[in-house]
Amino acid sequence: MSWKLRLQERLFGLAPWDAGKITDEWFRAHFNYAADLAHDWLGRSLDLSKARLLNFGCGDGITDLALVLRHGATSIHGIDIRQEYAKLPRIAREQLGMSRIPAALSFETIVPNSPLAGRHANYDGLLSWSTFEHVQRDKVLPILADLHACLRPGGVFFLQIEPLFHSPWGSHLRRYDDVPWHHLMASEEELWSIIDKHEGPLDAAEVDFGFADFGVEGYKRFVFKEYQALNRLTADELIDIARQAGFEVLREERRHVDMPVPQALQGRYPEDWLRNNEILLLLGKS
Ligand SMILES: C[S@@+](CC[C@H](N)C(=O)[O-])C[C@H]1O[C@@H](n2cnc3c(N)ncnc32)[C@H](O)[C@@H]1O
Repeated sequence: MSWKLRLQERLFGLAPWDAGKITDEWFRAHFNYAADLAHDWLGRSLDLSKARLLNFGCGDGITDLALVLRHGATSIHGIDIRQEYAKLPRIAREQLGMSRIPAALSFETIVPNSPLAGRHANYDGLLSWSTFEHVQRDKVLPILADLHACLRPGGVFFLQIEPLFHSPWGSHLRRYDDVPWHHLMASEEELWSIIDKHEGPLDAAEVDFGFADFGVEGYKRFVFKEYQALNRLTADELIDIARQAGFEVLREERRHVDMPVPQALQGRYPEDWLRNNEILLLLGKS
């Protein structure tokens, strides 16, 4: 099937698409912001029109689609433990009027934490967006070492996490609870009670395409479970583990919030942990 699609694209080009049709804020954020940043970080080291890319924790694949359509990528393999990417043809039809997704994209579901390097090698570039905070803490090193083995020497890995756990909305619960750093001050029972009682619409930019599958109450339980499973890594810990996995840090950017830290947290955590909400890394393999 894929060769047919490639031939069709070679003869007739990609299916037409129109960004003017976008109505969904989650889609817009990934199609524009996430893809632009990934392009900015990877594109300085790689020619995306020639590079073989792997996206670890690709989710619904919207960022990968945008890297192809807006930044000329020609080969991206998305990997995830869920199958949100199966919705991409429908999402692309609804949000872009696109009748088929490009042959440049392929996707794969894996059993959590299963090694990839035996089947995947010599990638020019890897990317991972808002995923490594969800990986079980003791699996971060083996997964990064495995991804290192998937990369060719001289290849690069763009790794982003936002929000980091100790930052104001590091719980990933902001769509239900807007109080900054609440997860570091309230008990789990209190947090769950706020979510459980929540009524009304959620911020559209924070609601992914999985919402419809879960329904209002199911989505609350899903998001809370995700919160409980966060690995709580700090930026320093992540960098340290990446180095242990064999990577060299080629570029690093830590973003911070400029907000007063509540008195209850002062002295309990380093101020830098509390303010550092995002880390962007370009890791290299020598
Ligand atoms: C917050 S979502 C981000 C998805 C996508 N990168 C995006 O920006 O929309 C985190 C993703 O990481 C995936 N994930 C979590 N643990 C994983 C693991 N051990 N291996 C692969 N993917 C994982 C989840 O299934 C989910 O799709």
